[in-house]
Amino acid sequence: MSASSKRGFIARLDHDLQFFRTWLSHPRRIGAFVPTGTALARRMAAIVDPDDPLPVLEIGPGTGSITRAILQRGLEPARLTAIEFDPGFAERMSRDFPDIRLIQGSAFDLHQHLGDPSETAPLFQCAVSALPLLNHPVTERISYIVELLKYIRPDGAIIQFSYGHRAPVPRNGGSYELKFGGHVLRNVPPAKLWIYRQKGGKGSETG
Ligand SMILES: C[S@@+](CC[C@H](N)C(=O)[O-])C[C@H]1O[C@@H](n2cnc3c(N)ncnc32)[C@H](O)[C@@H]1O
Repeated sequence: MSASSKRGFIARLDHDLQFFRTWLSHPRRIGAFVPTGTALARRMAAIVDPDDPLPVLEIGPGTGSITRAILQRGLEPARLTAIEFDPGFAERMSRDFPDIRLIQGSAFDLHQHLGDPSETAPLFQCAVSALPLLNHPVTERISYIVELLKYIRPDGAIIQFSYGHRAPVPRNGGSYELKFGGHVLRNVPPAKLWIYRQKGGKGSETG
């Protein structure tokens, strides 16, 4: 094994151990015992257009596997904002990705972190969300999507993965559009992708 692949292996192990320890302390808040796999991270990041002038919002970056996939698409780090609740993950994110805008706090308090959307929107081209939504009551999940969409331009989307069978956030009587984005079997555990858009936004369909 070369010195650089040994360093890569040790770095990954260190991420995995921190992730596992954090999951042991807060299983519901973390939602998985291993970080998001590369295949799932790439599928999530595929929604990002690096040439779009608007920045990207990532929710729940954890130890940064989706962040890495987003930046590998060519997005400038300064055009990525990430909101992470866990202080240990936030600290690691600031060290590993010093040039992104990292907010340590809850994605359920967007107004507090990002300001009033009616004065500033649209702030982002899209949002990439890894929140373990199934561990929240359904009313909170719905209001999370409704609030988050206010910060994204009308034809932009939220991509959310989930380990459940159904969409983690139901349709809510059609106040936003919901589309199934496919399976990612090469992940532990296998995941499904879900896309949320404002009603009537480009590329939306009910499915
Ligand atoms: C499934 S993990 C994401 C894993 C990440 N993609 C990785 O590979 O490390 C969910 C993440 O959401 C974060 N999280 C949970 N509740 C949150 C909240 N209310 N606001 C922001 N982040 C939150 C957790 O701390 C965790 O980092």
